[in-house]
Amino acid sequence: MNDTPERIGVDEICARKGKDPIVCLTAYTTPMAKSLDPYCDLMLVGDSLAMVVYGLETTRGVTLEIMIAHGQAVMRGANRACVVVDLPHGSYETSKHQAIASAAHVLAETGCQAVKLEGGVEMADTVRAIVDAGVPVLGHVGLLPQKAEHRGAFKIQGKDDEGAKQVIADAAAITEAGAFALVIEGTVEPVARSITEQCSIPTIGIGASPACDGQILVTQDMVGLFSDFTPKFVKKYADLGSALSEAAKEYADDVRSRRFPGLEHCFGVEKPES
Ligand code: KIV
Repeated sequence: MNDTPERIGVDEICARKGKDPIVCLTAYTTPMAKSLDPYCDLMLVGDSLAMVVYGLETTRGVTLEIMIAHGQAVMRGANRACVVVDLPHGSYETSKHQAIASAAHVLAETGCQAVKLEGGVEMADTVRAIVDAGVPVLGHVGLLPQKAEHRGAFKIQGKDDEGAKQVIADAAAITEAGAFALVIEGTVEPVARSITEQCSIPTIGIGASPACDGQILVTQDMVGLFSDFTPKFVKKYADLGSALSEAAKEYADDVRSRRFPGLEHCFGVEKPES
């Protein structure tokens, strides 16, 4: 009997529009992917790893090769979830040719199901070109972290009429271009709700709306492993950062007081007779 679960494909994610909420989280490593896989419909190898794994100020500064290495690690741990890898800043904006080459390279090297890229109206032709080349695309509109050159530049989008119209136009353009689903990040709730109602593809919200077809969080935020700042839209389900510090403190105390290692952790030691 084969008990490996069947992989969720992009068509299945797309077909969930208006149905059961789509559960999404970010993942960057094999052990993390293994832990999340039974509970996630879609796992994103997000370029947020620049900040929450590599300690950089923004999501800029990770390369395509870094994203591929993490994509491969996640694919080793995820059997069931649809895995999407972010195209990093600088890998797709120059030309359609560059974007297709980067997207195809990521798919070929990782075996993931799709790529994600940021942008609206201005990226629609690029999204269409990648999709036409046979690579499924997850869009990303609203707050676009790759546009931020420093942390203070992360700003909620769609607050005034003009901003709201822009995010709505961006979502429509990316849908029209053939994306299979759309991340809406950091956007006022009524705008995200309205996009979800109007758009024919599933919306995946982060700092968006409970009305979205799915929700995503950065896993490090969700489990308390990133404490530099916590956006309002994050709900912390665990405090692994504190648990890690506690464990390190106990280990340090044990080593300094010679309580660790014990003879039971050593090789070639006779078991005392009982
Ligand atoms: O890079 C990332 O983790 C993302 C999510 C926040 C959607 O783009």
